Amino acid sequence: MPDEVVAGLTPIFHFFGRVPTEESLDGFIRVLPAERLHAAWEDGRAVGGAGAFPFQLTVPGGRVAAAGVTTVGVLPTHRRRGLLRGMMRAQLDDIHERGEPVAYLWASEATIYGRFGYGIASLSGEMEIPRNRAAFHAPVESAGRLRLVDYEEALELVPAVYEQVALETPGMFARSRDWWEARALADPEWRRGGGGEMVRVILEEDGRTGAYALYRLHPGFEHGTSTGRVNVIEAMGVSPQAMQQIWRYLLDVDWMDRVGARLLPVDHPLFFLLAEPRRMRFTLEDALWVRLVDVGAALGARSYASDESIVLDVLDDFCPWNGGRWRLEGGTAARTEDAAELRLDVSTLGSVYLGGFTFAQLTRAGRVEQLVPDALERADRLFRTGRAPWCPEIF
Ligand SMILES: CC(C)(COP(=O)(O)OP(=O)(O)OC[C@H]1O[C@@H](n2cnc3c(N)ncnc32)[C@H](O)[C@@H]1OP(=O)(O)O)[C@@H](O)C(=O)NCCC(=O)NCCS
Repeated sequence: MPDEVVAGLTPIFHFFGRVPTEESLDGFIRVLPAERLHAAWEDGRAVGGAGAFPFQLTVPGGRVAAAGVTTVGVLPTHRRRGLLRGMMRAQLDDIHERGEPVAYLWASEATIYGRFGYGIASLSGEMEIPRNRAAFHAPVESAGRLRLVDYEEALELVPAVYEQVALETPGMFARSRDWWEARALADPEWRRGGGGEMVRVILEEDGRTGAYALYRLHPGFEHGTSTGRVNVIEAMGVSPQAMQQIWRYLLDVDWMDRVGARLLPVDHPLFFLLAEPRRMRFTLEDALWVRLVDVGAALGARSYASDESIVLDVLDDFCPWNGGRWRLEGGTAARTEDAAELRLDVSTLGSVYLGGFTFAQLTRAGRVEQLVPDALERADRLFRTGRAPWCPEIF
């Protein structure tokens, strides 16, 4: 393991409350190429670090090379003297030179990344439902066979389900085998949060895997009665029927009192499956933050829902190569001298890019300036998508 990589990861581990060990570093070292880690050095010691995973990110209508920004940290001894700014400069220049049109991340705090051109691009939800209020509004037709599988079998059977869902869901990225081994299916003690070992269940239909769930039991008792919780880590299905069955399974684990999950998509089918969706107490948080590193290439990488055109005037102080007017037409974006129809900051363009927010919504928040009467509606017709962006994991 290269010492420099360990050094560059050490600052963020400080904030995890941990000294990096070989085991805890595995989920980074195996999937983060050394050359994608920037660090700030003092006397031969890294005092700041910032990494970027080379992802293939699903956008409406396809995939785009995207930098998944991660492990950003500056030691508390060196805070607020510009180290993050310096690392963001080096990292975004590097991403630009590599030809990755998009950068995106999960922000630990919403105050950090807007200044570097990132905008909130998706929301995610957290829920916890008492199992005795988790009936569906109509019975689920059960087809196929549910089976608990071990790590090796999960490694063989689960990725194809994920890949099918990932391909049609903006915000999800392709997982490599290393990613499955070192992260998605890895189950080190320190990541269990007091719960049991990771349980893996699959739904088999006609000889193929239609759905899977990864979860943990958190047993508990009060006065001899179970207060246990099923903690769903990830549940996915390739069809509505498969999704319904895997969730019915999760909501029916006997002896448990509650079922909870984080990082759920905002358009989750549970809202329409459950008889009492309010019992989920679904709460929202900002999720992905997107930064268009190359506005022309990024806009050209996604599809659009109408064949109209729009001229955007993009403001971008941190990456000035993006600034100015772009005509979006026929699925491509090109420089133009034509009059601008909408004016917005690049972070706002990041917010609409995956389809998670509308120009109309951002205009109401003062983030978009409409310069021509029908431009807002036109832009929203262009950028409309059928599915909320979703990323099921924090990277
Ligand atoms: C977030 C963090 C990396 C900032 O590092 P830093 O070196 O102190 O940041 P800088 O000095 O380069 O600050 C750049 C600008 O961002 C602002 N800023 C930085 N962190 C901020 C925060 N947490 N909240 C609000 N503003 C912040 C600074 O005030 C400065 O503003 P200015 O350009 O207007 O002067 C550091 O606080 C940290 O390691 N935090 C804990 C780990 C973490 O949250 N990492 C992010 C993971 S997604």
